Amino acid sequence: MGQIVQAAKITHVPTIWMSHTIEKYKGMRQPAIDGYAKIRAAALAAKVDTFVVFDTHWIVNQGFHLNSKPRHKGNFISHELPHMLSDMAYDYEGDAELSALIVEEVRNKGHRALGHNHPDMGVEYGTLLPMYFINEGAPIRLIPIATNQFSSIDECRQFGEGVAKGIERSGRRVSLLASGSLSHTFWPNNLSVAGVNMVNGEFNRQMDLRVLELWQTGKWAEFTEMLPDYAAKCDGECGMTDTAMLLGALGWDSYRGKGEIVTPYFGSSGTGQVIVNLPV
Ligand SMILES: [Fe+2]
Repeated sequence: MGQIVQAAKITHVPTIWMSHTIEKYKGMRQPAIDGYAKIRAAALAAKVDTFVVFDTHWIVNQGFHLNSKPRHKGNFISHELPHMLSDMAYDYEGDAELSALIVEEVRNKGHRALGHNHPDMGVEYGTLLPMYFINEGAPIRLIPIATNQFSSIDECRQFGEGVAKGIERSGRRVSLLASGSLSHTFWPNNLSVAGVNMVNGEFNRQMDLRVLELWQTGKWAEFTEMLPDYAAKCDGECGMTDTAMLLGALGWDSYRGKGEIVTPYFGSSGTGQVIVNLPV
């Protein structure tokens, strides 16, 4: 029987790539790169077969979509922030078998789920950037999962339950990664360069810090109750659907883990970022 052996909320900001590739920015996001290294080490220690990534940059408008290609291979440039993220080569094995089981279980819950194996289907940087550091050269399969910008938090909770059921039916040891920010209010153009390392607004910053306290103390009933408001009021990245999917898979308000900070909270281009391990 398959199982979830790792779960984490992770950052994917392009400034990490700048920190890695551009001399001028070297070290700027070292704590995030170090955090990825810790997630990688834990995944290898847990003998993870497959990374399932809820990607807030693969944004869809209808239903739920999985990239079920047997191999993810290409070269990436971000169309959103091409000056920050380009020339990223990738090559990961996919997991069509687990993807099909997840699709089936999500459909059993009455939702529309589709797996895609089209040769032109690429992967977005919400998946690729973390995978570059966490899965480069490691023999771990990958399923990128889209987030639906028009879905409700409750639909995403149910989707997450379907993911957990699919994993259970597989023989896989799975790492679930919710790839998205906490608050997500970019700076206006005239402040975007100066604000590269800051969170846009004290309200957002305080909300994010309080949320991290709730996670670290395992107050999941409180957090799941406030998640729809938090997502709306703090401009959640794709509505914080990645977080809802992850918690849905972990049991929602009955999840009992206490979040462990892997990379401390930081501001990036106005958004609030973190890496938190959610013990399973
Ligand atoms: Fe993002």
